[in-house]
Amino acid sequence: MGTQAAPATREIAAVGVIGAGQMGSGIAQLAAGAGCAVFLLDSDPAALSRAVASISSSLGRLVTKGQLSQTACDDSVKRIKCVSDVQELRGVDLVIEAIVESEDVKKKLFVELDKITKPSAILASNTSSISITRLASATSRSSQVIGMHFFNPPPIMKLVEIIRGADTSDEVFSQVKSFSERIGKAVICSQDYPGFIVNRILMPMINEAFWALYTGVATKEDIDTGMKLGTNHPMGPLQLADFIGLDICLSVLRVLHSGLGDNKYSPCPLLVQYVDAGRLGKKRGQGVYSYG
Ligand code: CAA
Ligand code: NAD
Repeated sequence: MGTQAAPATREIAAVGVIGAGQMGSGIAQLAAGAGCAVFLLDSDPAALSRAVASISSSLGRLVTKGQLSQTACDDSVKRIKCVSDVQELRGVDLVIEAIVESEDVKKKLFVELDKITKPSAILASNTSSISITRLASATSRSSQVIGMHFFNPPPIMKLVEIIRGADTSDEVFSQVKSFSERIGKAVICSQDYPGFIVNRILMPMINEAFWALYTGVATKEDIDTGMKLGTNHPMGPLQLADFIGLDICLSVLRVLHSGLGDNKYSPCPLLVQYVDAGRLGKKRGQGVYSYG
């Protein structure tokens, strides 16, 4: 499935990225680095300013390390145009949305994108868990809607998980696979089931770490050190949850729980309480840990 001989594909030259947060800023950096004209849109102007600063600093680090020329760095930054009106995306070949993890909000965006983008444009979602088939059903081009799931931080993590909705065409799958490879990523393909491959497996582990903390098995530090040194994970599960965003972890667990109907996915009350309290993780300065 999903690996049929690729039909002739058109090169993706212009990319719209919607949501300029942790993920969208990294995705915009990758697309600009591959030579695409990038239109980066966010409903919050402050997020766009933060994204430009973070992209400049991330590319600047590569220049300092001798992995990128100053000219290539400057050219990449120049290829990113920050916009506040979705109409500016009407000429792009591919849209990748990385807005809030809410099915209703994403569907509203897909309805709008379907109206304003050119008929051949591909609409991709970076959702962590939401059904691509249901997002596609909000449009009149379900064969051109696909999941393009990046990992945090997108410039460093080597994977893109591609999710085919029920109607995603082979041609669109091929184009998105080629584009993912062009920006330097390895690709895996998942069927459209809750949490896809990686989060289906990762989020229950994170949830279990919250249960271990909640039920007093150990301190947060010992839980994280256990998984770092005991299983060679780069970050412990609680630290990783803070890094991802506790709101996103909770949203994914709720999608797993409602979509798969098994209580083993029921979010730990401690995770729910942290999110209720606005302790969303590193991005808010406080989650399981505090960040100065
Ligand atoms: N952008 C660009 N480069 C970055 C970066 C960023 N945001 N963060 C770190 N880096 C670079 C650093 O410059 C450094 O590069 P060099 O080795 O060339 O100097 C390298 O990454 C390592 O960084 P650090 O030394 O600062 O820190 P580290 O060794 O702890 O690595 C990490 C940081 C790569 C994030 C590492 O801790 C890690 O791999 N953590 C796990 C990340 C992970 O599992 N992500 C997936 C989460 S799940 C997901 O994303 C899906 C979902 O839907 C929720
Ligand atoms: P974030 O909170 O850092 O950024 C989201 C951005 O979207 C914000 O800047 C917000 O202002 C903007 N936004 C929200 N609604 C919008 C709208 N209707 N129109 C335009 N902009 C809007 O979130 P993030 O961590 O970058 O996650 C974004 C998406 O990527 C989510 O679907 C998430 O599940 C997914 N994702 C996250 C991670 C992760 O580790 N954080 C990894 C993979 C996928």
